[in-house]
Amino acid sequence: MKLLIIDDETGIRESLKNIFKREAYTILEAEDGIKGMELIERERPEVIVLDIRIPGRNGMEILKLVKEKDLKSEVIIITGYADIELAIQSTKLGAFDFIEKPFSSERILITVKNAFERYQLKKIGFEKIEESRKRYEIVGESEGIKRLKEQIKKVAKTNSTVLILGESGTGKELVARNIHLYSRRQFNPFIHLNCAAIPEELVESELFGHRKGSFTGAIENKVGKFKEADKGTIFLDEIGDLSLRAQAKVLRVIENGEIQRIGENKAENIDVRVLAATNKELTEEIKRGKFREDLYYRLNVVVLIVPPLRDRKKDIPLLINYFSKKFSIELGMEEKKFEPKLLEYLKGRDWKGNVRELRNFVERVYVFIPDQIVKLESIFSIFEDPSFSFPQPKNFKNYKVYLHEAEKRFIEYKLKFYNYNVAKTAREIGMSRVNLMKKIKELGIRSKGVEERSPQHDVEEESPNSRGQGAP
Ligand SMILES: Nc1ncnc2c1ncn2[C@@H]1O[C@H](COP(=O)(O)OP(=O)(O)OP(=O)(O)O)[C@@H](O)[C@H]1O
Ligand SMILES: [Mg+2]
Repeated sequence: MKLLIIDDETGIRESLKNIFKREAYTILEAEDGIKGMELIERERPEVIVLDIRIPGRNGMEILKLVKEKDLKSEVIIITGYADIELAIQSTKLGAFDFIEKPFSSERILITVKNAFERYQLKKIGFEKIEESRKRYEIVGESEGIKRLKEQIKKVAKTNSTVLILGESGTGKELVARNIHLYSRRQFNPFIHLNCAAIPEELVESELFGHRKGSFTGAIENKVGKFKEADKGTIFLDEIGDLSLRAQAKVLRVIENGEIQRIGENKAENIDVRVLAATNKELTEEIKRGKFREDLYYRLNVVVLIVPPLRDRKKDIPLLINYFSKKFSIELGMEEKKFEPKLLEYLKGRDWKGNVRELRNFVERVYVFIPDQIVKLESIFSIFEDPSFSFPQPKNFKNYKVYLHEAEKRFIEYKLKFYNYNVAKTAREIGMSRVNLMKKIKELGIRSKGVEERSPQHDVEEESPNSRGQGAP
């Protein structure tokens, strides 16, 4: 633990050294600002005790430099009575505390000790931030991604509202997290709110909170997401799905920094940075009367566009290797390598689901392909089987009707796969033969194979289809 004392009076330096002689600090000293700055850069002391009036560079200048250069040292300012204004200003600039001359040894001991503690805590905080930055790293070296990363670093330093646009699975959430992690709000909360996932009647309470008893069902006080994000960042994901009513309220927060809990008649000030994302065409939504134009213009100030994967094919091999490493660690497996021919093929493939689809693909490789070196030939079995289509939920209204259809398709598919061998199908899908027969009748599965087979034929026999790739 290094403590640097910067003071031009030898007497003060001596008395400070004396006060700290029992502490386990390595004490460094400087009699002017120039030497002080030199020592700060070279020795990186955790704590600095700094006289505000010193020759060379004055204390305020040094404090500013320490903060600008992000040197992380905690600075304690020593002032005379006449400099009280300056001292107050110094804490605004980020000084840990100030102490007036003449000071008691007790007070300075405690203040320095606290400063070391805060340094430690902050260090842990920085390590966490570093960890998060790694976890949410944006991988890619294409022009599009390089530009995006530069834009992120720039907007992160501001407090502007940012609208993040891009197709599904391109990495919009990742962008939002990066903006927060590179901003001055990094130590404060990041609240992710998926607007599409909240039922209409709960949106307001979710966003702004409510008072107990303000409506039926409000049995407890509730803190809203905006309040949770105070001093930090709120990420309004899928903002295109927010109801018009909620849009009006969000607009008000952005304009005035005010929220109002349901059942409360006073508004409350908060300090939240708003990030929003959508894969909808908001201008179209405005035309359809689904999105407020005024909110759109508020959000549209800074827009980041995340390019689709087809415009940055160069990144595909990088992303594959990145996910491969990630899954190998997550699953505790040795890292798989993708042969060059396969990488070439994947680079040329159409990834409609963008990076998300690519990531899921690599995960399936880890689950289904045991080879250490993954070859082009091996991967076709894990792409979606075009001969099977899942019933689309949007075409069904009733839950039971939907399940009936899904069950039917599943069993039909499996029966076909096992050459209509009912006994084998039953065993493979984990059902008794009797139950499977019942299901076949119940679901009205008509297939020549099943009807014509007599029960004797249902004894174990290996179907040619079930060899090789394993069960579908
Ligand atoms: N450049 C990238 N580097 C590393 N991982 C990425 C990258 N882009 C996306 N991902 C990963 O791909 C997945 C999808 O990304 P994300 O959820 O951010 O997409 P999105 O644009 O928000 O999609 P949606 O519109 O469907 O919500 C996540 O697991 C994310 O970590
Ligand atoms: Mg998303």
